[in-house]
Amino acid sequence: MSNDNDEIIRLEGIYKIFGPRPTGRAYELSQEGYGKNDVQQLTGHVVGLRDVNFSVRRGEIFVVMGLSGSGKSTALRTVNKLFHATAGHVWVDGVDVQQLDGTALQHFRREKMGMVFQHFALFPHRNVIDNVGYGLKVQGVGRAERNRAAIEALAMTGLDAYADSMPSQLSGGMQQRVGLARALASDPDILLMDEAFSALDPLIRRQMQDEMMAIQERVQKTILFITHDLNEALRIGDRVCIMKDGEVVQIGTPEEILTQPATGYVAEFVQDVDQGRVIEVREIMQEPQPVDRSLDLAPALRNLADRAGAFVLDDGGRPVALLTAADGIRAGSMGSTEVEAALRSDFEQCPPTATLNEVYAAAGRGLPIAVVDDDGVMVGNVDPRHIMEEMGRVEQLIDQFEREVFM
Ligand SMILES: Nc1ncnc2c1ncn2[C@@H]1O[C@H](COP(=O)(O)OP(=O)(O)O)[C@@H](O)[C@H]1O
Ligand SMILES: [Mg+2]
Repeated sequence: MSNDNDEIIRLEGIYKIFGPRPTGRAYELSQEGYGKNDVQQLTGHVVGLRDVNFSVRRGEIFVVMGLSGSGKSTALRTVNKLFHATAGHVWVDGVDVQQLDGTALQHFRREKMGMVFQHFALFPHRNVIDNVGYGLKVQGVGRAERNRAAIEALAMTGLDAYADSMPSQLSGGMQQRVGLARALASDPDILLMDEAFSALDPLIRRQMQDEMMAIQERVQKTILFITHDLNEALRIGDRVCIMKDGEVVQIGTPEEILTQPATGYVAEFVQDVDQGRVIEVREIMQEPQPVDRSLDLAPALRNLADRAGAFVLDDGGRPVALLTAADGIRAGSMGSTEVEAALRSDFEQCPPTATLNEVYAAAGRGLPIAVVDDDGVMVGNVDPRHIMEEMGRVEQLIDQFEREVFM
């Protein structure tokens, strides 16, 4: 294993074959490049994973996404050795997990990782605090200490007031928070989350995603998150790994997945996704190129060239007014000769990290948007046309992929 300090989990050449003779012909065929369907037809064995390689960096949210049966859960289960891999290595913090057994494996699981499942898996007859502290109890931690840790974890998920409630008294979303608190209580470096939010309805699900991201930012866990929902993957993932038939199809940032889908399969998935959600304004903004308010109107309009408008900045570089081409032409036609007469102050501002979706409504007014840093200083100018073009460009890209791959 390399000394890449940045990486905390690595799957290396992992195979998982299900069936009576997992290391037999099915494995050989799979190694030779036969896909899941072929191997199943030829040998009756199921290829859960075929030569899976990925690494997860410390502190990132790494999402494994794919349809049901694509091997997501199987991959996750090799990380805590709930499954023994047919071949390959899983490294976690330099430990060859698949070599661990017995108490060493138990300790490793308890100390290194917490797991959150789709179905809440809470003990119905124990109250919330005992559910959350259960893992610590198993580790032999005394009541006072485990209650303290449990309350702290519950506070992170906003449920400290429900410590004495029974699970049945809580909504599905709240029960899932208890599940998350339980995973956090032993303060593991890694959270393994298998379809953790998939059973929740969309609004609650979104809230949970937000909370999980906020918690992750505070406590800097590494999260290996599994979902069949590309929207969720792109929303929460620092990087996304797309799987199909037990194989990795693409690994990339949400932007890379969207703008450079590796195969038609990915492109097809991506087609359903709202592009504006993940592309940030800073990727399409242009130099501010401000306009001087003391200029005459005619040269100022010429300077605009094909831009929709330019901003007037104060001495600190903050935008205070906007000259648009349309306003300038109108003012000119009514006899004005100065920029001052054509300025408007009802313009929109956003940070560089705003997504295209967030500025979409503003762009719909047809006005340029001032991109400003934390101090309000203008760092970029977004032309509404470019927002529309960018959103359209990705759609075109996907169309093109589809034509190449499917026709
Ligand atoms: N214990 C098992 N025995 C036999 N086949 C299994 C077992 N677990 C998973 N599989 C098969 O392995 C493949 C991947 O399953 P899984 O990892 O659960 O997919 P996902 O989590 O992406 O829905 C599927 O074809 C599934 O039927
Ligand atoms: Mg699964």
